[in-house]
Amino acid sequence: MQVGIIGGTGAEGRGLAARLGAASVSALIGSRDLARARETVERLRSDGGGASLEAATNDAVVERSDVVFLAVPFASADDLAAAYGDRFRPGAVVVDLTVPMRFHDGAPVFVDVPEGSAAERLRARLPPPVRVAAALKTIPASVLGRLDQPLDCDDFVCGDSPEARAAASDVLSRIPTLRILDAGGLDAARALERMTLLAVGLNKRYRVRSARFRMVGL
Ligand SMILES: NC(=O)c1ccc[n+]([C@@H]2O[C@H](COP(=O)([O-])OP(=O)(O)OC[C@H]3O[C@@H](n4cnc5c(N)ncnc54)[C@H](OP(=O)(O)O)[C@@H]3O)[C@@H](O)[C@H]2O)c1
Repeated sequence: MQVGIIGGTGAEGRGLAARLGAASVSALIGSRDLARARETVERLRSDGGGASLEAATNDAVVERSDVVFLAVPFASADDLAAAYGDRFRPGAVVVDLTVPMRFHDGAPVFVDVPEGSAAERLRARLPPPVRVAAALKTIPASVLGRLDQPLDCDDFVCGDSPEARAAASDVLSRIPTLRILDAGGLDAARALERMTLLAVGLNKRYRVRSARFRMVGL
């Protein structure tokens, strides 16, 4: 199963790439600009964990990957869905990481999405054969990218089908110290995306960058 990341050069995508590389998962690290993707992969390799990573354009990620992580700003997701919708591989699963959030006077504000969540909006914009899951929405890049720090938290994976959840979970369960929880249907993203805002607010008030979630009782 080929894994790829659209937006693999950003804070969150690079963090995911670092964790996948450290777990020896073969992954294409995508960018609109191949040079930028190469630079990211070289940096991850020089940190000692990128042997299984390959730089690629976003186009190549879409054409070659079975599981595609979407790690771009929420505002660009519509355009990418329109550009790539018909170009994903048959049976591909797109894993949405985007959070519809902006800052107002230094405070995180949820951007209202008529579909209920960014993940459901993406689902509505992709052709039915492409399956959609959501993951990593509550995992901060500042921790994801620090291989010297254990994640020690849960990731909530939801999706439009058991197959989509299984594909996302299969990949992410390769990351040590991250427990994967099945959060059910894609509408769970409504809660998850708001949980991200909660964590960002906590980070600000407690002057940290590492707030994340651990569910107890299971
Ligand atoms: N940062 C976090 O802690 C965190 C945590 C959870 C979820 N998220 C979510 O993860 C997503 C990525 O976050 P981030 O902090 O990594 O964002 P980012 O650094 O601002 O952007 C990620 C990448 O997206 C690509 N990109 C930017 N504008 C684009 C456009 N108009 N069209 C296509 N690609 C574009 C860029 O890659 P190229 O220029 O190389 O193409 C960029 O490196 C966001 O939706 C965010 O809400 C972030």
